[in-house]
Amino acid sequence: FQPKPLRGRRVLITAGPTFEAIDPVRGITNLSSGKMGFALARAAREAGAEVTLVAGPVSQATPRGVRRIDVRSAVQMRDAVLPLAPEHDVFIATAAVADWRPATAAEHKLKKDGSGQCPALSFVENPDILAGVARLPKAPYCVGFAAESEKLAEHARAKRERKGVPLLVANLGPATFGQDDNAVLLVDAAGERPLPEDGRRTDKLSLARLLVHEIANRLDAASA
Ligand code: C5P
Repeated sequence: FQPKPLRGRRVLITAGPTFEAIDPVRGITNLSSGKMGFALARAAREAGAEVTLVAGPVSQATPRGVRRIDVRSAVQMRDAVLPLAPEHDVFIATAAVADWRPATAAEHKLKKDGSGQCPALSFVENPDILAGVARLPKAPYCVGFAAESEKLAEHARAKRERKGVPLLVANLGPATFGQDDNAVLLVDAAGERPLPEDGRRTDKLSLARLLVHEIANRLDAASA
């Protein structure tokens, strides 16, 4: 029995949504609460790791003993994560990063001009932070998350390959954003299996503790 399976390990986690500005007072975001990422940060810290948490705009309390860096946009999240990644052993990407951002953010607040005309937004793609970290020469052990609405295992396997990560965690069942509980499918080179083992939803902190143990076992196997 190993009480602190991540002792001596450094873990970097992204959490929450990102916020992509339209003008100084408006933007687009999503409904991610950050609960899973914050639960993982707490569980990794409990397991003895040194934890850095890069958080988008959320209202979650920082877990005790965790270093937290707040960011707003996907580009800011990428800029915070990439330089830190090589000094970490594990990278867990739980953030719901916006896929696109407005091509330009207006310098001043957009105003109605009385003509009834609406502003037209055009978008550019955001950087894929997880794939970027996985491609680094000194990449930590990378763990991705996936929320799919159909063909979960098939899409999760494809995503794992596309992002080039050893472990992908797919949310089982209906939307998990903002919920207090969850169940997942672990997808790695060996195949897939549910966590918790019975596939029944459990609170996010319990699930985070199970996941941390799964990650610690894989790290030990990788460095054995
Ligand atoms: O491609 P998709 O958004 O479904 O992939 C989800 C996984 O990739 C999550 O782990 C998420 O944190 C990560 N991701 C990222 N940067 C993006 C998009 C997703 O790190 N721009």
